[in-house]
Amino acid sequence: MLYRKSPLNYIGGKYKQLPKIMHFFPKKINIMYDLFAGGCDVCTNIAANSIYANDINFFVIDIYRAFQNLTIHELLNSIDGIISQWNLSMNNENAYISFRKHYNSVPVEERNPIELYVLVCYSFNYQFRFNNNREFNNPFGRSRSSFNSKMRENLIHFHSKLTDIHFLSENFHDIDLNFLRTGDFLYADPPYRITTASYNDGRRGFKGWTLEDDLFLFELLDRLDRQGVKFALSNVTEHKGDRNEELMKWKQKYHTHRINYNYNNSNYQAKNTELITREVLITNY
Ligand SMILES: C[S@@+](CC[C@H](N)C(=O)[O-])C[C@H]1O[C@@H](n2cnc3c(N)ncnc32)[C@H](O)[C@@H]1O
Repeated sequence: MLYRKSPLNYIGGKYKQLPKIMHFFPKKINIMYDLFAGGCDVCTNIAANSIYANDINFFVIDIYRAFQNLTIHELLNSIDGIISQWNLSMNNENAYISFRKHYNSVPVEERNPIELYVLVCYSFNYQFRFNNNREFNNPFGRSRSSFNSKMRENLIHFHSKLTDIHFLSENFHDIDLNFLRTGDFLYADPPYRITTASYNDGRRGFKGWTLEDDLFLFELLDRLDRQGVKFALSNVTEHKGDRNEELMKWKQKYHTHRINYNYNNSNYQAKNTELITREVLITNY
């Protein structure tokens, strides 16, 4: 099967690993629930009768909702209009800075999510980075980031997949999943506690992903298991000498599939566990 990359190039996006993880997904799915959807690489590449996608990052979810409200022609016209209005290009840093200033000058509730999408397209590593005042503060992606033809192509495909997705932007602690039943499937790709990826999403006091979050998630997945719902959890058990002991203990009652065992140094010695990252997929079926 041909998988398509999300036009957000989201940090932590699962595109490269789709063939590996989807190999272990159920073949027939009634409701698919993507609890930490991020760039939506997973939920836009899956077949199900209906799809829910949640992420606490409301800036990202607002972009998907804005995409849904436009036809693909309207969306591309809007993006092209913004790019030419602000004279954005891979090398025009001044244009990027002026555009970012404009975006941040608008009150948060009135900001245009399509403008944010375009801003991200020209920013460093396509990251959604906000400071505590909810100002977008990612630097310019000089010579590297732009809304190029590949992203346009990915966007066209992505847009066609969004039509029937129900989007939510909630803290996963607050979501009611009691309606899920046998035949439904939940995919969880949370931040990995022992790796360093940061999701600075502009919420004041955001502390990152904690042990309490991990434990809450394990309980939630146990509950789904009792409800007869299938789940798959992506995570990292070991990273450069750190181990997620709680995860390693909890996962023993389920099935663990190796996804990626990386050696973080090309001159690795097989025995040097300091350099290893072990990424796994845990399923209850
Ligand atoms: C590893 S990324 C998911 C990437 C996604 N699978 C993809 O392919 O793009 C983890 C996501 O969890 C979200 N997140 C972090 N804390 C959360 C919470 N408490 N509730 C819901 N989502 C959360 C982050 O905003 C981030 O987008």
